[in-house]
Amino acid sequence: MTDRPAKTVYLETMGCQMNVLDSELVLGQLRRAGYCLTDQFKTADLVLLNTCSVRRHAEDKVYSRLGEIGSAQRRSGRRDQIVGVIGCMAERDRAGLLEKCPQVDILCGPNELNQIPKLVLEVTESRKRAIALSDDRSRKIPVEQRSAQLDSLEALDLSRELGPEASRVQAYVRVQRGCDKFCTYCVVPFTRGPERSRPPSHIVSEAKLLVDQGMMEITLLGQTVNSYVHTENGRTVRFAELLEMVAQVPGLERLRFVTSFPADFAEDILCAMRDLPQVCEYLHLPAQSGSNRVLRDMKRQHTVEHYDELIAKAREIVPGINLAGDFIVGFVGETEDEFAESVALVERTQYKNIFVFKYSPRPGTAADRRQVDDVPNAVKRRRNTELLAVQERISLANNGKLIGREVEILVEGYSKAAEKLRRQEEPEEARPGGPQGETLARTSGAPDTRIPRPTRSQLTGRTRGDQIVVYDGPASDIGRLKRVRITAASALTLHGTSV
Ligand code: SAH
Ligand code: SF4
Ligand code: F3S
Repeated sequence: MTDRPAKTVYLETMGCQMNVLDSELVLGQLRRAGYCLTDQFKTADLVLLNTCSVRRHAEDKVYSRLGEIGSAQRRSGRRDQIVGVIGCMAERDRAGLLEKCPQVDILCGPNELNQIPKLVLEVTESRKRAIALSDDRSRKIPVEQRSAQLDSLEALDLSRELGPEASRVQAYVRVQRGCDKFCTYCVVPFTRGPERSRPPSHIVSEAKLLVDQGMMEITLLGQTVNSYVHTENGRTVRFAELLEMVAQVPGLERLRFVTSFPADFAEDILCAMRDLPQVCEYLHLPAQSGSNRVLRDMKRQHTVEHYDELIAKAREIVPGINLAGDFIVGFVGETEDEFAESVALVERTQYKNIFVFKYSPRPGTAADRRQVDDVPNAVKRRRNTELLAVQERISLANNGKLIGREVEILVEGYSKAAEKLRRQEEPEEARPGGPQGETLARTSGAPDTRIPRPTRSQLTGRTRGDQIVVYDGPASDIGRLKRVRITAASALTLHGTSV
């Protein structure tokens, strides 16, 4: 018998942490089916794009990747490569993908990912397209069928087995699927289906499994993670209690959660953050806008006053808490004054960081059906830059205050810059500036931000408050808690030396 080389899969992940987790689960299944991972899409037997639909730009990227894949296939004359589009865009844009992209063999929605091995086999055998989509919101699927599928999905989450490509330090655990909020701009409730909280016993055993495999940090995932509620045999578990249950997993060092929905955020979660040593002092609480008129139009269910109150409470109950936020600029009808209210909110909240997005109308959402996208792109772009500049100033000032202080970080691995240098395998002395060289931070005007040039041994880690810290250290630091003294700061990164 001759040794047949293993089949290879190329998997590209776009979008949010949910997709990162889904990709890990897909890869686990494929590994069990005899595939190994490659970073070369041209030669891979199976090419999968795990896609995102949240903004138009994310979908455009998928079409352009599919274009590249198609032309590579034509150039090489390859007929046997299988191409699959999986995740949110498969669910949202079935017609477009099937029509415009003959190279696509598989479509698989985020709630059908347990079927991937079956779909691949189907295509291999028949050379016909294989499709698994839920279309949950519009199609009347019989309850039994739905719960059978949910059971299979649960089995998939519980089957986790970390491959060589997984982080050695931190892992995600899903606590909810889907979303029922229907913010008027958002496509997620359509792509991921209705909100369902997973049984707490499943979440805890998954966390145990991961900690047993060496994970020190777990991040609980949900689109509105704080809305978690699960009732079984007459007993109801809410999110604060779930935190307590997961925190008790022996050996777990750090526990995080994203993303929180302000309108559902209750004080008991802040108390759990204060009282449970594992729960990190970090809260991602997207505001989306600082204007009540815009928030109402977005159907966000919170007001600016409520948001401010929540932030004040968070700072009072959890001293030193770091906050992150999301903002959409140029939503339908947003005036200069309303945008100025978002700027004001960012200024007074003093976030650690924010994510800013230009409003992108999504087919099928309420905003797209009922309202005209009336803020010109140039205006969106300007507001985007302006809001980010405000935050950059805040981050720089706040990070600057940490210079000279010691922080504790969980070391995740080599920094991106170090990895790039290591890939180049170039002797350190040969680089311009040498290993001790310094460059001034891009953001000028702050005299204390002398950023050391990255070396091949630059490691990266995060504080409990989710600050990114880089420093030079031995590989043996990876996966450990280390104390680092901060010596320089940019808006996004703290630089330090090991103590
Ligand atoms: N469930 C999370 C976020 C999901 S999407 C929450 O509710 O906070 C991540 C971010 O993308 C959102 O917070 C929002 O800021 C942004 N976003 C979602 N839909 C968008 C759209 N149509 N255009 C621009 N940004 C959008
Ligand atoms: Fe989208 Fe709103 Fe649900 Fe977040 S809460 S996923 S923004 S609908
Ligand atoms: Fe994108 Fe789907 Fe996540 S639309 S943001 S990948 S839930």
